[in-house]
Amino acid sequence: MKKVLIETLEGNKTKRVPIWMMRQAGRHLPEYKELRARNKSFLDFCYAPAAAAEATLQPVRRYDIDAAIIFSDILVIPHALGQFVDFKEGIGPILEPINTLEGLKTLEGSKFAARLAPVYEAIERVRGTLDAEKTLLGFCGAPWTLATYIIQGKGGNRDVAKIHALQNPEFMNELFDMLIEYCALHLAAQLDAGADAVQIFESWAEDLNDECFQNLVIEPNRKLVARLRELRPNAKIIGFPRGASHRAKYYYPQTGVNAVGLDISADLKTIRSELGNEACIQGNLDPLVLVAGGDGLKRAVENIMETAALGPHIFNLGHGIVPQTPIDNVIEMIKTVRSFEGK
Ligand code: CP3
Repeated sequence: MKKVLIETLEGNKTKRVPIWMMRQAGRHLPEYKELRARNKSFLDFCYAPAAAAEATLQPVRRYDIDAAIIFSDILVIPHALGQFVDFKEGIGPILEPINTLEGLKTLEGSKFAARLAPVYEAIERVRGTLDAEKTLLGFCGAPWTLATYIIQGKGGNRDVAKIHALQNPEFMNELFDMLIEYCALHLAAQLDAGADAVQIFESWAEDLNDECFQNLVIEPNRKLVARLRELRPNAKIIGFPRGASHRAKYYYPQTGVNAVGLDISADLKTIRSELGNEACIQGNLDPLVLVAGGDGLKRAVENIMETAALGPHIFNLGHGIVPQTPIDNVIEMIKTVRSFEGK
């Protein structure tokens, strides 16, 4: 059976606009919180195929949306390469920073496939139960976003990573080469396990000047897309350069992704006219408008749906759903999106 999200990714206008939500697995669902409480260590949870498969399926079961995204994290890549990674409650990820050429030598791939095998097993399990018309998405972090965590040991402000990148081109080249290769291998393995398409999360694409955006975001994303297509020529890829929607007109054609994810700042009409009506775009409802609900939510969804009529569009949020999102608002949002079906 044809999957509406895949048809859209292939550049077709479908009768129904497909819908999923970034970070839909985890965060806001009570059934997730219950599952999370039974799996104390977040990384162990990511590497437990039955639990990860269950977390992946929960939002699809509840909302009947068009895609599932595998429950995992972008930081499994540095972890599988041997970097110390931990997730601290209320703080987020903490890593042992790596910022020298010497330090880079501690990253190596001999255990990479074995450490990530449970992720692929979770994907196989999900594909085994997910309806045939629903899309299963794999994902990875983009090289620059991963590099910010690897270099700084934490998220948040990226000033340290940016200065480091500017002062140490040799280090950055080596790190990027490694990340491009292992991200491509991880995405290829997810496709082999049953993912129908993949998303590359470039969560830290904001606050970069033109030259940095070219060198740190576009070039590594372009190489990653090319490497993945070398490994799996039919790979369908969504790229999400968060905070850089005003540069979608460069990012989309230069990286070669099938679709570009847009953040909340994007004016969809402008982007549609910049990219043309053939391009597939994804986004971009403000997650906090979804929390607020009411008429504002309805208006915002309708605005997006008006431009979605112009070309292939995957309805999504402009960033991840936040933990305090009321379930009823999600249901309302989906109802409004579906009310445009066939129009
Ligand atoms: O839909 C899904 O949620 C699927 C699984 C998923 C997670 N992380 C699970 C997770 C996905 C797609 C991600 C991506 C991710 N992880 C990104 C890119 C997307 C984005 O939000 O910008 C980034 C930057 C990370 C790194 C990361 N992991 C951070 C900053 C944090 C802490 C804050 C947060 O987002 O919750 C995590 C932890 C994390 N990843 C949790 C979950 C469910 C919470 C862990 C916990 O319960 O302790």
